[in-house]
Amino acid sequence: MQHALQVARQGLGHVEPNPAVGAVIVDENLNWIADGFHQKFGGPHAEIDAIAAAGERTRGAELFVTLEPCSHHGKTPPCADAVIAAGFRRVVIGCQDPAPHVAGNGIARIQEAGIDVAVGVCEDEAIDLIAPFRKLMLQKQPWVHAKWAMTLDGRIATRTGHSKWISNEQSRAEVHRLRGHMDAIITGAGTVRADNPTLTARPAGPRKAMRVVVDTDGGSIVSDGNLLKTINEAPLLLCAAEASATSDHVKMLAGLGVEVFTTSKTDRSAALAQLLAELGRRNITNVLVEAGSGLLGSFFDGRHVDEVHVFVAPKIVGGTGALSPIGGQGMAQVSEDASINSMLVQQFGNDLLIEGRLRSSAS
Ligand SMILES: NC(=O)c1ccc[n+]([C@@H]2O[C@H](COP(=O)([O-])OP(=O)(O)OC[C@H]3O[C@@H](n4cnc5c(N)ncnc54)[C@H](OP(=O)(O)O)[C@@H]3O)[C@@H](O)[C@H]2O)c1
Repeated sequence: MQHALQVARQGLGHVEPNPAVGAVIVDENLNWIADGFHQKFGGPHAEIDAIAAAGERTRGAELFVTLEPCSHHGKTPPCADAVIAAGFRRVVIGCQDPAPHVAGNGIARIQEAGIDVAVGVCEDEAIDLIAPFRKLMLQKQPWVHAKWAMTLDGRIATRTGHSKWISNEQSRAEVHRLRGHMDAIITGAGTVRADNPTLTARPAGPRKAMRVVVDTDGGSIVSDGNLLKTINEAPLLLCAAEASATSDHVKMLAGLGVEVFTTSKTDRSAALAQLLAELGRRNITNVLVEAGSGLLGSFFDGRHVDEVHVFVAPKIVGGTGALSPIGGQGMAQVSEDASINSMLVQQFGNDLLIEGRLRSSAS
């Protein structure tokens, strides 16, 4: 199953909104016969990929698959039927499919065919692998990644708002890699005004993210800014307050190809919940928040963040007024919800990248 999980990861960024899935076929002595993974959205599922590679050698063999085989006709026929037809002796499954139209039906179908089925092998890792898909299925919202680069003294900009560059070139290349795996990149008015970002992945990755600017009146998006200059490279969505929808500026932006989504909520975290629900409706699976203290603060206050990617540069800038990464209201007490799980630390030149999932996240 560990091998199946490893194989599955190759599909990340290529299969969304589907989950990444891996499969391994072994003989009765656990000797490897073939493996496969879900390689692209609309393409064969992992089991089918592995069965095709194994050919006749599936008869009497064992199938290890990270996710329950599907039981419905989607873009491809049900995998449960193909698994039964392949004549496996035993099927070992990482975790059940959270999709309501599968949710145990695939397992039941294979069991009813008289095949020995084991479910829950390396289950935590199997669930972790599909956490964004799981959140989309169960909560109808995308998985929210928050990224920031800060100095050793916890500042994301100097007291003047200057932030180019806190992290080094290798770290910034990693950010572009991350962007290339996202469906949307969200930033705030403050960052657009201060940094004039483009928010595209350079070089391009497997996915092209929609850029989203959260700005009450859209005033940060200006005609000679990089976001509008690159409007033909990636879609741009303005998330503004309802009251701004009819302003001349917002109408002008709409005329230039900016999609406008308005929120009715005045509470900032609630407004973001509306935005995330809209992105979920569009099957957007992973979003990256690359913003300043204000917007990140609202995301954390609303407990909308699932995963963090924090670059720490060995620089010290000081200044009481220099922004720290997370503004907003913050917590009154240090609680378990403040903890990061399954932390991973990597080094990019002299920068550290600390990644992990919030204990309070949906997975
Ligand atoms: N080091 C890093 O990783 C990094 C990354 C990004 C930015 N930065 C730096 O951060 C600074 C900007 O930070 P910032 O806090 O001013 O900007 P921000 O977080 O990018 O944007 C905050 C602004 O967004 C608007 N907004 C609209 N709806 C909101 C909502 N629901 N919740 C929160 N904000 C909402 C508000 O402006 P309106 O009321 O006008 O709509 C608010 O002032 C710059 O100096 C930039 O260079 C650093």
